[in-house]
Formats: sequence, structure tokens, C-alpha cells
Amino acid sequence: MSWLDRFRAGHGQARVGPVSVDHAPRLAEIHAGAFARPWSTEDFERFLLDRAIRADGLFLGRERDPAGFAVSRTVLDEAEVLSVALARPARGRGHSGTLLAYHIQALAHAGIARIHLEVEDGNLPALALYRRFGFVQSGVRPGYYARPDGTRATAMSMTRILSGSDPGFPSGPAR
Ligand SMILES: CC(C)(COP(=O)(O)OP(=O)(O)OC[C@H]1O[C@@H](n2cnc3c(N)ncnc32)[C@H](O)[C@@H]1OP(=O)(O)O)[C@@H](O)C(=O)NCCC(=O)NCCS
Repeated sequence: MSWLDRFRAGHGQARVGPVSVDHAPRLAEIHAGAFARPWSTEDFERFLLDRAIRADGLFLGRERDPAGFAVSRTVLDEAEVLSVALARPARGRGHSGTLLAYHIQALAHAGIARIHLEVEDGNLPALALYRRFGFVQSGVRPGYYARPDGTRATAMSMTRILSGSDPGFPSGPAR
């Protein structure tokens, strides 16, 4: 049994797996419910056809449409997490950890050694999630994000190093 199969088997009603262009409208819908500057269906179609992009979806129960996604761009042995989001009803149930664990494992499996991301400094659920997965602050970018009200928010740059023996999961007990 591969690590992917073991992972799927261990996570009962929540499955994680790659998404395709067919999922682009749903991914745009989730993105619009999560961010002030939404990506369109066409944006997602472009990403999903780009071989440098790794995109995984979270699927609940027997649903064929994802309830969340993680999208990263890879360059050589580095990756940047471009976006992670769950539909609102799927939040607060630990699914973000299931999604991110799979996504990081898939990146590690593809030979990625270092993962970067940016997150708004007041986004407490996202910061807690990334810290739990071993991301550490690598910089601060004041005024990086434009808010809908015209003000600007600070971004934290975070990095996670993956070593050859590192499975990508957080060091604490599985949730
Ligand atoms: C970020 C996101 C994916 C997290 O998913 P979630 O289901 O809401 O979060 P979870 O319930 O799994 O909790 C994640 C962590 O945040 C913590 N947390 C949740 N709400 C919190 C709050 N209001 N304050 C502090 N910590 C909080 C949880 O305790 C958990 O911590 P742990 O990993 O140490 O156990 C989700 O909130 C989302 O889609 N947000 C909108 C998009 C976004 O901001 N994406 C990230 C930026 S790219």
C-alpha cells in the first residue's frame, strides 16, 4: 500500500487528492468566500493546466466537489503555497490539517525541499495551522495585502524546510 493509500484509508470521511480543471468553478467559489480579491474560474483553469502548479482538493463524504483546496507553485526543489482555503461550513473541524498534511507530503514526494508562503499577520487560524506544520517566520512585509476598505495589512513570510527523512506531518499527535 502506498503512502497515499495509507493516508486516504486513515482519514475516513475526508479525502484529499489532486483537483482538475473540471473543479475550477468550485475552487473559484471557495476562493471568493475566503479572500477579498477573488480568483476567477479562468484563473484556476490556468493554474490547473500549468505543470508547475500542484493543486489538491479536500473532499468530504461522497461529495464530488471539493470543500477546500491547497495550491502551490514549484520551481526546482522549492515551492510557494499560493493559496489554502476551506468553504465556510468545512472550517473549524480540523480538515485544514488533513488537507495541508497531504499537500506537503505530495510536495515532498515530488522532491521539494523548501516551502514558502505569505500569510496576513492577523489571520490566527492560518498562522496556527502553519506553525503546527513547522513553518517558521522568515520575514515581515508591511502593507503587502490590500484590504477591501482601502487599508493595507502586513504579511508574514514563513518557510518550512523538508529533509529527506521528514514525512511532512506535524510532530505532535495526529488529529
Ligand atoms: C485558514 C483555514 C484554511 C484554516 O482552516 P480552519 O478549519 O478554519 O482551521 P482549523 O479549525 O483546522 O484550525 C486551525 C488552527 O487554528 C486554530 N484557530 C482556529 N480559530 C482560531 C482563532 N480564532 N484564533 C486562534 N486560533 C484559532 C485552531 O485551534 C487550530 O490550531 P492547531 O492547528 O494548533 O490545532 C480556514 O480558516 C480558511 O479557509 N480561511 C480563509 C482563507 C485563509 O485565510 N487562508 C489562509 C491564508 S493563505
